[in-house]
Formats: sequence, C-alpha cells, structure tokens
Amino acid sequence: MRKFLPSLIWSTPAIATPLTPLDLLSCLFNKKGVVKQLEELFKRDYKGVYVFSCSLARWSLFFLLQAASLVTGRKKVIIPAYTCPTVGMAVVEAGLEPVAVDVDKYSFNIQPNKVKEEINKDIAAVVAVHSFGAPCDMEALRAVTKEYGCFLIEDVAQAAGGTYKGQPLGSLGDAAIFSLGRGKVIRGHRGGIAVVQNPQLAEMLEKIFLLPSPNFLYLIKTYFEEWIINLLSTPELWVLASKIFASRVGQEAKSMEGPPYRLTGWQAKLAIRSYYRLSGSLQRRRKFAKVLRRLLDRKGNWVLQNTSYEESAFMRFAFLVEDPALRKRIIENLRSYGFDATPFYSRPMYGYPWWPKTAKVKKCENAEAIVNGLVTLPLYMLTERKCYKMAEIILDTAKSGSSVSEVKDYG
Ligand SMILES: Cc1ncc(COP(=O)(O)O)c(C=O)c1O
Repeated sequence: MRKFLPSLIWSTPAIATPLTPLDLLSCLFNKKGVVKQLEELFKRDYKGVYVFSCSLARWSLFFLLQAASLVTGRKKVIIPAYTCPTVGMAVVEAGLEPVAVDVDKYSFNIQPNKVKEEINKDIAAVVAVHSFGAPCDMEALRAVTKEYGCFLIEDVAQAAGGTYKGQPLGSLGDAAIFSLGRGKVIRGHRGGIAVVQNPQLAEMLEKIFLLPSPNFLYLIKTYFEEWIINLLSTPELWVLASKIFASRVGQEAKSMEGPPYRLTGWQAKLAIRSYYRLSGSLQRRRKFAKVLRRLLDRKGNWVLQNTSYEESAFMRFAFLVEDPALRKRIIENLRSYGFDATPFYSRPMYGYPWWPKTAKVKKCENAEAIVNGLVTLPLYMLTERKCYKMAEIILDTAKSGSSVSEVKDYG
C-alpha cells in the first residue's frame, strides 16, 4: 500500500492535450459549417486536394484503403508489424489482406528495405505510421511505392505537428490520417480526419465517402462523458477517472467501434481549439524529451528511440529495455509514483486474434523485441522537475535490481 500511495495522490492523466471547461462550453455554440472549417484548416496545412472527417481515425483509414484498392484494383496493404492494432483492423475491415513488415528496432518505424522485399503489383497501399511522433523515412518509402505504383498513406495519429526534413508530417504521401482521440496531440472528443493529396484517390473518395450523422442521444451522451473525463483530468483526480472509465482508459483498442459516422460540430470545434495549441504543446513535449534524453541516454541497459529531437512530435518518450524483467520493474515503479508509464502494444500485428488465417505470418524479430521491451513515458502534464523524478526512478530501478528505495521528491 505504502508503495502505491503516491499514485493515489498524484498521477499523470493519460491525456495528451487537456481541455478547459471554456473549451467544452464554447463548443455548444457553433456557427454552422464548423466541421467544414476544421477540414479546410487541414486541407490548407497539409496540402490536400480533398479532406473528410469521421468518428474515428481507424475509419478514415478504412475509407482511404477502400479507395486505394478500387483505384488500383489490388487487394493487399503493407503495414508495420508493430503499431496500433486499429491499423491492421482497418485493413481487414476494408476486405483487404494485411502484409506485416518489420520495423526498425530503434526507431520503431517501418523499414523501407523490408517494404522493398515484400512489395509487388498486388499491393494497393503502404501505411507509414510515425510511431510515437517520430517521422518515418518518407523519401525511401516514396521511392519504393512509386516504383510499384501503389499509394503511400501516412498515419499521423501520433505525430501531428512533427516534420520530416522540415515538411509537416501528413503532407508527404498520397494521403494521411489524423486522430482526435484523448491520448493524441490534437484533441476533439475522438474523431478522425483524412487529408488526401492524390487526385485519383480524392476522386474515388468523393464517390465512396458517404456517412450518416449520429443521433441526438449519442451527442448528449458523448458530450457529458467528455465533461466528466475533463473534470477529472488533473494529476490529483485522475485516479478517479481511471476507476470510472476503467474499461477504456489505457486499454488497447479491440475493435473498430463502428459503425462510423460524420464528425459532429461540437467535436470539430474542440479540435479547432486544440489544433491552435499544437505548437505550444509540441514545444513543451520536445523540451521534456530533451531533458529525459540528457538524463537517460547511455545510462543503462536500454536504447532511446532513434529520432530527431527537432522533428519528432513526441507523443510519448519511448525506449527499448533489453531485459524484460527490468522493463517490468521500471514500469511498475514509475506507475507506483503516479507516472503513466506503459509498455504500449501487447503483440506484433500478426499476433492479434483478428489477423486473417489466410494472411501470411512472417516472424518480425524487431517487432517482437519491441513488444517485449518497450517502455513509454508521458510527456504531457509534466514539469521539468517531474522529468528529473521519472529519470531518477528509472536509474534507481536499474541500479537497485529491485524496487525503488529512496527517491528524492522533485515534484
Ligand atoms: C498509430 C495509430 N493509428 C490509428 C489510430 C486510430 O485512431 P482512432 O482511435 O481515432 O481510431 C491510433 C489510435 O489509437 C494510432 O495510435
């Protein structure tokens, strides 16, 4: 009990962008056309020719993939072997066959040379997920997809605000998806936005993207849910939220949570408010990431995510611990002090129950090593002192070989 006491008093909410009561009140008073306004913002900033929004980013991907398949007449999609399971689910839901390709062991992003090994004229699209905010090697991926005439789709769910060689992530492929989920860096009350740069894809989507709006009851329910979760989204109250929403907070997605519907006005208004704060929150996360790098790099039996500290959006600070027992202790000890440390995804993509029996399973060693060794740390709702404390807990855990003993309170 004594060990877990700190986390009862203080814990980092699993929320990347906090919203204020004013945000929630203001979204009751929308001008007509607020969804369009949000969509235009994305179209402008990510050089789109077409944009659409819906209830979740996984559905945005679903529509993009359907369009990619219809345009190319092909039925397979290359995805990273380690990423959010909803990426693979969207492929399967769209009636296509996923092909999992191994990720780099230290950037956690899909490897262009492995994509090259798997790509052929059956592939409709390659999905490049910028893991935890870190940009993929877009130039190399672009070269491979171009050679085989398939689409390159960026998954920017974790990386909004990040860049690749100075260009915004989400503007570098044929299309991109953004998520407005609670743990993401642009926050609505959930939601997905797709920006399409490729005119052929855009033309197809204009024909197939047809969705209803949700009913009024659903709007009321979700609006109140957002209020509750926000009122509890402080380090002092978060422990309550994680009890009330136990089934959803910090849980891995298990389904497509459909059917999909159009993004509503109040969700769009929240997202617009949050979008305008993107660069401020990004600067804070990068600053904390640099502090953690300084304190942790080469200081223990782990390797920090290999990425550019100037370009990553740093949704979380991720590092790979070679020893699974040490990884477990690090996470437990951080959590006992209230830090939302997580191992993230529990399986390689082909290990989930929905993976089609007919789809190829080729063991991806790096993805498996990451499943067994990853630690991710929050970079939001922190102070520099809290970063020092996280680092000290980690270093102390590595040194002591057991649980944290005396940890100075920087908080
Ligand atoms: C990389 C990635 N892609 C897609 C998604 C799906 O986003 P959403 O929850 O909005 O469907 C997520 C979020 O869970 C994600 O992390």
